[in-house]
Amino acid sequence: MNRQIKGFSKLSKQAKIEWLVKVHLNDHEDGMKLINSYMHRDSAVQKIHDEFIENTVANYYLPFGVAPNFLINGEQYTIPMAIEESSVVAAASKSAKFWMSRGGFKSHVISSKKIGHIHFIYDGHKDELVSLFSDIKADLLNSTSTITSNMRKRGGGISDITLVDKTQELDEYYQIEVKFETCDSMGANFINSCLEKMAKSLIDLSEKHVKTSDKKLEIIMSILSNYTPECIVHSEVSCPISELIDGPNFSTDEFAKKFKLAVEIARIEPFRATTHNKGIMNGIDAVILATGNDFRAVEAACHTYAAKDGQYRSLTYCDINDGIFKFWIQIPLSLGTVGGLTKLHPLVKMSLNILGNPSAHKLMQIVATSGLAQNFAALKALTTTGIQKGHMKMHLLNILNQLGATEIEKEILQQHFSKSVPHHAEVVNAFNDLRGSKGPEVEEYHA
Ligand code: MEV
Repeated sequence: MNRQIKGFSKLSKQAKIEWLVKVHLNDHEDGMKLINSYMHRDSAVQKIHDEFIENTVANYYLPFGVAPNFLINGEQYTIPMAIEESSVVAAASKSAKFWMSRGGFKSHVISSKKIGHIHFIYDGHKDELVSLFSDIKADLLNSTSTITSNMRKRGGGISDITLVDKTQELDEYYQIEVKFETCDSMGANFINSCLEKMAKSLIDLSEKHVKTSDKKLEIIMSILSNYTPECIVHSEVSCPISELIDGPNFSTDEFAKKFKLAVEIARIEPFRATTHNKGIMNGIDAVILATGNDFRAVEAACHTYAAKDGQYRSLTYCDINDGIFKFWIQIPLSLGTVGGLTKLHPLVKMSLNILGNPSAHKLMQIVATSGLAQNFAALKALTTTGIQKGHMKMHLLNILNQLGATEIEKEILQQHFSKSVPHHAEVVNAFNDLRGSKGPEVEEYHA
């Protein structure tokens, strides 16, 4: 069957759905039913969702959970999290509760500058370009004055503009690097608009200033960088080692040492660092999504930052000094609490409400803390009981749901496996035994 289609974007939403069901789902009635069942019953809300992206045909739900009991800089928070992975919200909640009685999390923003570049090539002499740049710098800045006027009133705007010579790495390649303060907005559109305006002025002004017609300045592109090494937040916890956990086979001292070693392994071993940081991103992405921020941008920035010295390393650190255990995170986070989805998506609005409508700086502190809490919970489990114990509880529920277990069957089997970590096949066998028959064949569920 020919699956190519011209003018798809021009079709009505209904026509798009009909095409999809006909061509890709064999006209199956269930496909249509499923898509319709995922539409919001309030057509005004559905329209908002339809208009977030192009070619919307349905909504894709993620669970929206909350992790209470976070104490950050003395303030209590319940943190909203949108995530499909089991155990993440539970881990955040457990860490929050653990640290609440030990002084809570302390967090501060180190700096919140964002960076964008005009990437261009210039085939003249560098000295001419340096002199041109110094002549036109003020005009370049002025050319953005209408775009920056509101931001300047709010205390933001352009804070720096420099010419960067990159010709050692790429022939004739230069940048104009621009630094921005974007207050409570993430600022991507603002930054890109400023850069594009400046790039146009750069061409106009260079044509006026550089008289020799054979000198060519050509703009390649103008765009913000999602790497934000000057938009950094720090969050930490600390307590006397004696207040950490112990168990039947380990003392608080042993726990602290093992925990610190686990962090050190992730500092020197990229295989471990990747998983370690993935766990941190579980906590971060979930809050980023719930608050309508751009998790791809945050992921990209954090991973670049993790490799800033040439090797991919842990984003968290641990230290033990004079009997005090200290655990912290320092990461780039470019976030907004105004603009974007913040006033559009009803659950994003609610999330920000739950957090007390924070400023972007406060949200940076909350998000970094969520990442740190997640990493604490993961390392605590990994270095003591192992990760599967907690994971399998929820995993078990997912397998039982997949098998179509009733609420009573779920209760019986959860009780049955309360002390062990069952494998998929064991759950299926126990389920079949309980029903006294062979249940449905289900593919192994992987969390
Ligand atoms: C699972 O999503 C995340 C962990 O693997 C993180 C880690 O190993 O630190 C548990």
